[in-house]
Amino acid sequence: MTQDEMKLAVAQAAVEYIRPRLGRETIVGVGTGSTANFFIDELAKVKHMFDGAVASSQATADRLKGHGITVFDLNAINELEVYVDGADEFDARLNVVKGGGGALTREKIVAAVAKEFVCIVDSTKQVDVLGDFPLPVEVIPMARSYVARELVKLDGMPVYRQGFVTDNGNEILDVHDLSIVDPKGLEGILNNIVGVVTNGLFAQRGADVILMGTPDGVQNIK
Ligand code: 5RP
Repeated sequence: MTQDEMKLAVAQAAVEYIRPRLGRETIVGVGTGSTANFFIDELAKVKHMFDGAVASSQATADRLKGHGITVFDLNAINELEVYVDGADEFDARLNVVKGGGGALTREKIVAAVAKEFVCIVDSTKQVDVLGDFPLPVEVIPMARSYVARELVKLDGMPVYRQGFVTDNGNEILDVHDLSIVDPKGLEGILNNIVGVVTNGLFAQRGADVILMGTPDGVQNIK
């Protein structure tokens, strides 16, 4: 089974997972990335069953609209039933690293609002200890060098994501060489550095369930 076939399988499983909660008033939060794109394409097949979606990036909003799915501003929404998104890494405690696509801040906001965060991944994303994937940190542009120096003090090796601007007009530092043994603690420490908008650790609000595509089928990890 290819990685794309596993992504398609988890996308289909995610639609089945959320199907019981779809209804006339239901808004679905939708993540960003190639796995989320598979999910959007599958979600479009049941678009008559729910009201619309909140997007975690402009790219996702464009894809949803392309399928004729109404995209709502998060500020216009009182309740978000569920948020479905991919990840770059996850561990056994459902701590997640996200932001490889640079959409981490909006992703974290939508995840915070949602009643349930359903994370859809293929088995290549599973790790014992987070940190193999460089941790994305979104920074206010004028603070980039200062934040980078602070990250070095934390034993990280920040690399400026050249030529990339987030949907919020900010920049990304990808932090290499971290062995993240305390994801919740590190998430808070990083967010306390002045100039950091947010970081890609989803631990204080981790995933509620992970649907993992494997060559033998989709596993449901809670
Ligand atoms: C984007 C993300 C993505 O969810 C993450 O990068 C995984 O992407 P993919 O499904 O393409 O592997 O956090 O900011």
